[in-house]
Amino acid sequence: MSSSKGKGTLCVQGVRKPTEFPWGSVNIPACYTSTFAFKNTKSLIEYLEGKSEHFIYTRYSNPTVELVEEQIAELEGGERSILFSSGMAALSTTFLGLLNSGDEIISIRDVYGGTYHLFTSALPKWNIKVNFVNSFDEIEKIYNKNCKVLFFETPTNPLLKIYSLKDAAKIAKDFGMLSVIDNTFATPYNQNPLKWGIDIVVHSGTKYLGGHSDITCGAVVGPSELLEPIYKMKKVLGGSLDPHSGYLLYRGIKTLGARMAQHNQNAMKIAQYLESHPAVTNVYYPGLAAHNGHQIACEQMTGFGGMVTFEVSSRASEVVDRLKTFILAVSLGGVESLVSQPIYTSHYGIPETDLRKMGITPEMIRLSIGIENPEDFIADLEQALQILTA
Ligand SMILES: Cc1ncc(COP(=O)(O)O)c(C=O)c1O
Repeated sequence: MSSSKGKGTLCVQGVRKPTEFPWGSVNIPACYTSTFAFKNTKSLIEYLEGKSEHFIYTRYSNPTVELVEEQIAELEGGERSILFSSGMAALSTTFLGLLNSGDEIISIRDVYGGTYHLFTSALPKWNIKVNFVNSFDEIEKIYNKNCKVLFFETPTNPLLKIYSLKDAAKIAKDFGMLSVIDNTFATPYNQNPLKWGIDIVVHSGTKYLGGHSDITCGAVVGPSELLEPIYKMKKVLGGSLDPHSGYLLYRGIKTLGARMAQHNQNAMKIAQYLESHPAVTNVYYPGLAAHNGHQIACEQMTGFGGMVTFEVSSRASEVVDRLKTFILAVSLGGVESLVSQPIYTSHYGIPETDLRKMGITPEMIRLSIGIENPEDFIADLEQALQILTA
C-alpha cells in the first residue's frame, strides 16, 4: 500500500471516507461487541469456509480494530497490520508465530528491558534461543542455520543508538533470516523501515501512536503472507486489542503528525541545551551532529523523535527528584514530558553485568519530551542540575 497523501493528512483522514461508514459518521464507528450474530447456520458455515467477510468474535477481529489496522498499515507502507493488547503481546506473538522450537533469533543487545526479559526468560521455555550481538559485524561469527530472525530497534531504548535499516535488511537477506524491527521510538511518522527492505515492523502503540498515556496496545505491520502465522497465533494466545482501545488509538493517530512535529522540535531544543551544560557528561540524541549515528539517522529518518537520554557524573537520582515540571513515570511517547532512570524503570531487574554490556549506567537519565513549551522544561533541568555545579 502506498498513499500519495502527506503523512499528516493520512493521520487525520485515515484510509476510509466517512461516507463508507454507517450514517456517514465523520468519526469511525465504535463497535463495542465481543461477538457477532449470524442469520442462520448456512451463513455461519459460509463464514467458516472463508466465503463471507462476516465477523465472528472480537478476539479474532473486530470492525473498529480492523479500521485502525488499515490505517497503521498505510502509515507504515505495509500490506497488512495486526493490533494487539500491548507492545509485548505484539512482540511475543510475532516470535511465537514466526518461529518453531529449536529456532534462534539474532538480536542487538541493547533492546527495551521487557524485550530483553522475553528473550532471556520466556522464549527459552519454548526452546527458542536468542543470540545477542553488539553490532551487525558480529552476525557472521554468531550465525548458524537455526537463526531465522534478525531483531533490532533503531533508535534504541534508552541509548538512542542508530542502526542502518538498509544494512539490517541486506544482512538478514544474505543469511536467509527475516528482519524484524521495533519502530516504537521512531514512529511511522519519522521512519518507515519496510521502505528500506525490512520484513516486519513492530510497535508499542502505547507510546506515540496512542500518544495520550491512556491505552496499552501494540501493532505488527508487514506483508500479508508473513503476518498470517502471527494472526493465527494471536487468535489462540488471545493478546487481541479491545475495540475501545482501538477507538482511542484511532483518535490518537489523528494527531500523530502534529504531535511528532512538536516532539521532534522540542526534543532537539532540549538536547542542544543539555549538550551545552557543564554538568552533563553525555547526551544521546540522534539529531545532534555529535551523535555517532547522526549521518545514518539523517538518511533514514525524517525527524529524530522525542526521546533524549543524558548522563551526569554523579547524583542522577537527586537530579531526577529535583525536577518539578517533568513527571517521574515509566513509559514514553505521550503529550506530557516524563523522566526516568532506565536502571529503575525500563531496564529494572537486568543483571548489572548485562546492563554494563548494553552501556546503561546508574547515572543515565531518560527524558520523553512532550509537546508542551520546551522553555519550561529547560528551566526545570537548569534548576535541577544546579546541585552539580553549585
Ligand atoms: C521500545 C519498546 N518496545 C516495546 C515496549 C513494550 O510495549 P508495551 O508496554 O506496550 O507492552 C516498550 C515499552 O516501554 C518499548 O519502549
